[in-house]
Amino acid sequence: MSLLRIAHYPEPVLLTVGKPVLENEFDADLERVVSDMFETMYEAGGVGLAAPQVFDSRRLFVMDVPDEKGLSNKLTFINPEVITVEGEQVGEEGCLSFPGVFQTVQREMRVIVQAQDVKGERFELDLKDLAARCVLHETDHCDGIVFLDRMTTLKRQLAKRKIKALQKTGKWE
Ligand code: NI
Repeated sequence: MSLLRIAHYPEPVLLTVGKPVLENEFDADLERVVSDMFETMYEAGGVGLAAPQVFDSRRLFVMDVPDEKGLSNKLTFINPEVITVEGEQVGEEGCLSFPGVFQTVQREMRVIVQAQDVKGERFELDLKDLAARCVLHETDHCDGIVFLDRMTTLKRQLAKRKIKALQKTGKWE
């Protein structure tokens, strides 16, 4: 296992639509990528991480949003497709590609998502609250969309100002 370098906005890979993972790519290499992505996500303290965030322009992401008892719930979504969304929630979001930036984002409350696991098996999940928010945020990454794009104009201006200030500190490469 190894830690992967995380792409920080505005790396072009974050703004590029990911390629689908092909049937012949479900192999040991893909399992290693997924395992490295989990390790990288845990190390960085995130609950979700998409492949484009580690310079791999493909449609997959990992997430671990603990359940109501606080237990780990590791999930891998390969070729995710959002099937249905419902309701809305407004809450603060962060992103490992925007270190130190937290901003309010409106998302749907519930999502039904289909994807493949690391073995290529198809599954469907019906998620809400933070898990739904995370699926929507990470699926966006797979489509070259970042949370900045989901903010209101005012919040986006605030976030961009914060990014500029953080870039000046040199901690944002
Ligand atoms: Ni993110």
